[in-house]
Amino acid sequence: MRFPSGLYDIQSYRQSNDKDDLLPHSVRFASRGRASKPFEQVCVAGFPVFLLGFGFSMFNVVLIEPEIPPNTGNIGRLCLATDATLHLVRPLGFSIDDKTLKRAGLDYWKETKVKVWDNFAQLQAANPAGRFWYLTTKCERAYEEAAFQPGDFLVFGRETKGLPEPMLTAHPERCLTIPMTQKTRSLNLATAVGIVLFEGMRQLRVATKTL
Ligand SMILES: C[S@@+](CC[C@H](N)C(=O)[O-])C[C@H]1O[C@@H](n2cnc3c(N)ncnc32)[C@H](O)[C@@H]1O
Repeated sequence: MRFPSGLYDIQSYRQSNDKDDLLPHSVRFASRGRASKPFEQVCVAGFPVFLLGFGFSMFNVVLIEPEIPPNTGNIGRLCLATDATLHLVRPLGFSIDDKTLKRAGLDYWKETKVKVWDNFAQLQAANPAGRFWYLTTKCERAYEEAAFQPGDFLVFGRETKGLPEPMLTAHPERCLTIPMTQKTRSLNLATAVGIVLFEGMRQLRVATKTL
């Protein structure tokens, strides 16, 4: 089963689901006209799902100043598995050609959609309509409470320092945490990405009932 291809199966969604109130998180489907109409606008939370077939990513994973090559390699593989785009915000603690990074992502690294930015402001300016979620140990709201939408940006901090404090205080309503015991201060970066990214995919799968 491959996540991306299933999302395009709008037809089978339409045949088995015609009540918006069955969907979680107020996910909204715009269904107009006949089901057989090609490329009709069917949306998840306002996002035209068919656009995913034209180079749009379901999710965008943002790593702020990642330091450890194997983490980024693993995350690249997670992004490939979910058709997400990986955004790396400089300064990076490694060269993008780092062998360790490629090894961690195995043969998949070259297929991963990667964008490198000089800073976070540059990324935001290029994606003015983007919805950004900030993953941190320093908030109370659990990640599964968020209603993720296709195209969302999931922002993760650097391995040694986490996300900058001003980024968190500027967007308290968009901060999410992965609840843990107090026996550890944080999760490994790649593990944290995997948990949240696949929760996002789970929500879209439930919403479309096609994946
Ligand atoms: C190794 S952690 C950073 C640890 C750093 N010392 C701190 O206190 O934030 C790297 C990144 O993984 C993510 N992360 C790790 N554990 C998390 C958790 N329990 N909840 C949310 N994000 C987490 C965050 O984005 C964090 O910035």
